[in-house]
Amino acid sequence: MRLQNKTALVTGAASGIGAACVALFKAEGARVAGVDLNTEALSALGDTLEFSQRLDVTDKVAVDATVDAVAEQFGGIDILVNCAGITTRHVPKGMSWEDGWQLVMDVNVKGTLLISAAVMVVQRRTATGGAIVNLSSIYGQVARPPFLAGLPDPYTHSKGAVLQMTRDLAVSGAPDRIRVNALCPGFISTPLTIGLRENAQVNAQLLSMHPLGRLGEADEVARCALFLASDDASFVTGTSLAVDGGYLAI
Ligand code: NAI
Repeated sequence: MRLQNKTALVTGAASGIGAACVALFKAEGARVAGVDLNTEALSALGDTLEFSQRLDVTDKVAVDATVDAVAEQFGGIDILVNCAGITTRHVPKGMSWEDGWQLVMDVNVKGTLLISAAVMVVQRRTATGGAIVNLSSIYGQVARPPFLAGLPDPYTHSKGAVLQMTRDLAVSGAPDRIRVNALCPGFISTPLTIGLRENAQVNAQLLSMHPLGRLGEADEVARCALFLASDDASFVTGTSLAVDGGYLAI
C-alpha cells in the first residue's frame, strides 16, 4: 500500500476524477478527506471518506477553516489533490462572457491557489513535507481545435494558469520538501464532458484526436495522481504529466 499512514485531502471529491482519487487513495491505505460543493453526491461516498464537508473552494474563509479542521482531525495533511473545477459549459446561460470568464478563473485558478496555500501553511507547520497534485489539462498546453473554439475561453486560460502556478508553488515549497505537480488529462469520461460526448459528431472528432482511439477513464487519471502524490515521485516537482492517450503528441 503506497499511502499507508498518509492523510489526503481531495477537492471536487464527489464526482469524476476526484471520486476516483478518493477510492484509489483509500485502497492504498490513506485516510481521505473529501470536499465538494455537491453535498448530496459527497454523502453518497459514505464511509470511504473519514472527513467530508461542503466547501466552495473560492471562499477563502471557508477554505482556511476547512483545512484547519482536516489538519486538526488527522494531525496534518500529507497530500492535496485539486480536482474541483468547472468548464465554460458550466457558466449560467445569460451571464456575460466577462462574468463567465471570471467565474471559471475563480474556481479553477483562485480556488486551486487558496486551498494549496492553506495546505502549505499546515505542511510547513508540521514540517512533514507533502505533495500537491493540481488538475490542469491538455488545454493548459495547447489551444482548442477550431470545432470547439468560440468566444475567449476561460477554461484554457485557467488551465494554463494552473500550470504556471504549479511551477511557482513547487519552487516556493521545495525548501520545506513540499512537491507540487500537475496532471494534464485529455478528454475523460466524467460528468464534466458528458455534454460533448453525447453529441455523436463531436464525440467522433474527439476520439480521432486521441491516438489511443478512445477517451480516458477517471481511474486512469487517479492512478497518475497516485504516482505524483506518493514517494515513487520523491524527486518529481514543478512539472506536469499528460494523461491524454497521445493527444498532445500530434
Ligand atoms: P466533474 O465535473 O466530474 O467533477 C468536478 C467536481 O468539482 C464536481 O463534483 C463539482 O461539484 C466540484 N466543484 C465545482 N466547483 C466547485 C467549487 N467552487 N468548490 C468545490 N467543488 C467544486 O469533473 P472531472 O472530470 O472529475 O474534473 C476534475 C478536474 O479535472 C477539473 O479541474 C477538470 O477541469 C480537470 N480535467 C478534466 C478533464 C475531463 O475530460 N474530464 C480533462 C482535463 C482536465
